[in-house]
Amino acid sequence: MAAAARCRSLALTLLLACSVVVAAAAADDGDAALTHLHFYFHEIEAGAPNATVANVASLHRNGSTFGDVAVFDCPLREGPDPASRLIGRGQALGVHTSLDGATASAAIVFVFSSGEYAGSTLATQGVYNTSGGPAERSIVGGTGKLRFARGYMTSSVVSSTNTSYVVVFDLYLTLAY
Ligand SMILES: *[C@@H]1O[C@H](CO)[C@@H](O)[C@H](O)[C@H]1NC(C)=O
Ligand SMILES: *[C@@H]1O[C@H](CO)[C@@H](O)[C@H](O)[C@H]1NC(C)=O
Ligand SMILES: *[C@@H]1O[C@H](CO)[C@@H](O)[C@H](O)[C@H]1NC(C)=O
Ligand SMILES: *[C@@H]1O[C@H](CO)[C@@H](O)[C@H](O)[C@H]1NC(C)=O
Repeated sequence: MAAAARCRSLALTLLLACSVVVAAAAADDGDAALTHLHFYFHEIEAGAPNATVANVASLHRNGSTFGDVAVFDCPLREGPDPASRLIGRGQALGVHTSLDGATASAAIVFVFSSGEYAGSTLATQGVYNTSGGPAERSIVGGTGKLRFARGYMTSSVVSSTNTSYVVVFDLYLTLAY
């Protein structure tokens, strides 16, 4: 990371040599460069009081069949308790993209508002299990302190009611470029 910081201030003519140095430094760092983020996504279904989901297009009016589209703006919290500390929001476009309904695709942007990454965001994409079982998705980019982020994330539903879900997320990413 120190090598990357130095690299930014070098003149354009030195950029090629500099990027070789950074690549070597990142390879040496190995797993040490992996950042792990752990938090909980608190979702309240469309139609319930204080909903964090809007079903914007639903072919069968139940929001859970092939072709349905929903938008999410859910609080991210430190713990599974809805009263635990707010660390950001998970803002997403979700589409039911599997004919059998087993999975759906989401493009989630995690917008962090407190802690080390306040003001930074992560962009993620991938399919998740609509039954709440474990899913793995890609981290495709970031902004602010999380620029150049890439990696993967796992998620699964840890608790639910008939109108809400709490989903645990573990993100593993590198910021090397
Ligand atoms: C909805 O949010 C308001 C404002 O935060 C809160 O006072 C109210 O208790 C919430 N209602 C439910 C059902 O959670
Ligand atoms: C939603 O509606 C479709 C079409 O009527 C049906 O096949 C499906 O089982 C329904 N899903 C739920 C969760 O009710
Ligand atoms: C989704 O998770 C359930 C367990 O909650 C599992 O039985 C099912 O096979 C999973 N489906 C997919 C497509 O991963
Ligand atoms: C959800 O559960 C509550 C009790 O926990 C019940 O009052 C309510 O009618 C249920 N809603 C639906 C849509 O089943």
